[in-house]
Amino acid sequence: MKLKIALLPGDGIGPEVTNQAVKALKAIASEYDHNFQFTQADVGAIAIDKFNDPLPKETLDLCKSSDAVLFGAIGHPKYDNDPSAKVRPEQGLLKLRKELGLFANIRPVKAYPTLLNKSPLKKDIIEGTDISIYRELTGGIYFGKKELSDDGNIASDLCEYSRPEIERIAHLAFKSAQTRNHKVTLVDKANVLESSRLWRRVVTEVAKGYPQVTLDFLFVDNAAMQMILNPKQFDVILTENMFGDIISDEASVIGGSIGLLASASVGDKYSMFEPIHGSFPQATGKGIANPIASILSAAMLLDHFNLNTEAELIRAGVEKSLKLKISTPDINPASDKVTTSIVGDFIEDFIFNPKDTNLN
Ligand code: IPM
Ligand code: MN
Repeated sequence: MKLKIALLPGDGIGPEVTNQAVKALKAIASEYDHNFQFTQADVGAIAIDKFNDPLPKETLDLCKSSDAVLFGAIGHPKYDNDPSAKVRPEQGLLKLRKELGLFANIRPVKAYPTLLNKSPLKKDIIEGTDISIYRELTGGIYFGKKELSDDGNIASDLCEYSRPEIERIAHLAFKSAQTRNHKVTLVDKANVLESSRLWRRVVTEVAKGYPQVTLDFLFVDNAAMQMILNPKQFDVILTENMFGDIISDEASVIGGSIGLLASASVGDKYSMFEPIHGSFPQATGKGIANPIASILSAAMLLDHFNLNTEAELIRAGVEKSLKLKISTPDINPASDKVTTSIVGDFIEDFIFNPKDTNLN
């Protein structure tokens, strides 16, 4: 298969981890005779430094003329600590999501058998957890009207949703549940928010088209508690933009490190694949960033184009690396010698020689 992949490594550890994902994809291309063409562009703080624009037109054009986007991370402390900054790296990511119409962000969360003791949560609570979070990505409070009063003392962010925005992601969530454990949990705040009540009405209607799938509801505060009390109760979680952002970071604790969580953002036309972690500025260039989230995002990219055998091979390599403790310090504190690229090299080798790497 021929695929044009736009590479947007971004800031901080973004380039280091994205490099490892590219190595894995190149290995797959060579083993399976695919033609993957990579073209790189700037986004985030680095693009602000160069062009005073977190999403230069060239970058956006490249994404639109590619089959998929592989995204690293964005963000820089100089903006985090400056609430008055007019141009922010995050605007690049948000604009990209909006411009590409990436309305559904899919975030799988699972407890790896070899990492059960890495989570601060008890083993018997997390063992067997397998959740797919469907986070709405182009609406809600992130994109609603923002206002600041002239005296700078009153600010507001509007949370708005329309029926079609809810319907399209709800269909994706139910379709996914049909191939999984047949359960969708809608996370909202319908006891307080009008927009949440609209979600409940619309999702209840959509559910009628999927009689094999059960739908239940949880208020987001309760869902946050349930996520660490009993995560195994969840199959597909469907939720709006900001609740999904928060719940997915919380859920990453189950896996043992946020450095393991991948995501796919999809729309009607474009798709983008990115780790859920941020740019981890303190780790930049130190070789300690975990590349697994980025490598697993590459696997999600392959799945998106129905290259499932290839995606499985990457996942097998990842599991093998975890089993053999070829892991960065976030999950393998004993070893400061296993760097970002050593993990990437191991998985690359595994793709070329799945059998030879059978070391244990
Ligand atoms: C994420 C990030 C982004 C978000 C930020 C960087 C804008 O936290 O992808 O989860 O809030 O969506
Ligand atoms: Mn987030």
